Amino acid sequence: MHRDPKAHWREPKTALMYARTATQIGLWESERIMVRRYFALTDDLLEVGCGGGRAGLGMLKLGYTGLQLTDFSEAMVSITRGVLADINPTWAGLVAQQDATALTYSDASFDGVIYAFNGLMCLPDRDARLAALRSIHRVLRPRGILIFTAPDREKGKNAAHWKNQSLPVDGIPGNRWHETETSPVFMHSSTEQETYAELELCGFTTLTSPLSTEVAMDSKAARDFAGETRFYVVRKV
Ligand SMILES: C[S@@+](CC[C@H](N)C(=O)[O-])C[C@H]1O[C@@H](n2cnc3c(N)ncnc32)[C@H](O)[C@@H]1O
Repeated sequence: MHRDPKAHWREPKTALMYARTATQIGLWESERIMVRRYFALTDDLLEVGCGGGRAGLGMLKLGYTGLQLTDFSEAMVSITRGVLADINPTWAGLVAQQDATALTYSDASFDGVIYAFNGLMCLPDRDARLAALRSIHRVLRPRGILIFTAPDREKGKNAAHWKNQSLPVDGIPGNRWHETETSPVFMHSSTEQETYAELELCGFTTLTSPLSTEVAMDSKAARDFAGETRFYVVRKV
């Protein structure tokens, strides 16, 4: 049976669940460390796949003044506007509907891009990931930085699950549908080597790729929601 990986993100109930994470979990400590380390407060920044505004709201609260939040899903965009407007009515205007695989901003518009909490790995397949990486590369300025996370198949707490899996019929390891409070969600888990190769193909060089647990001990709420994941900080070549 064909399942559409995008359907989950269009559901108002899923958007509500993500909006709750914006107010109840907020920016993880590991995310706070990474964005403060690689993005200046006055940088022009783009968030793709912003969900319910969790990471973006956290960054606005930290004092990032040049941030735009985007998501392809109308439900996510609408709920994020509400979440931000509750804190500061002018922030609702920072949210726009954009598909990460076909961004419409001009070339070289941003100093940095963030694709938080495994968003890149929710895209339907490798072609979609490459399209998103190329689109992000195009809107970044020379030497611009992209920060994202991806679940790791070989290291950390997810490794045991993947070790026991036989190769699926489609021959692509790492694809998995997870149950959630709403509908099942598609997620790809990669190895560092696979992700480095995809990044290199799209014109990025990797600066660092630590597991989230190597960056900080995140709050219990963040760990319960997101588990362990791997950060990639990459630069446009
Ligand atoms: C795992 S959620 C992460 C949400 C948010 N970044 C966070 O940290 O809470 C993945 C997000 O990517 C969005 N997404 C999926 N496909 C997308 C696409 N093609 N373009 C932009 N966003 C997309 C979903 O709507 C969802 O909001």
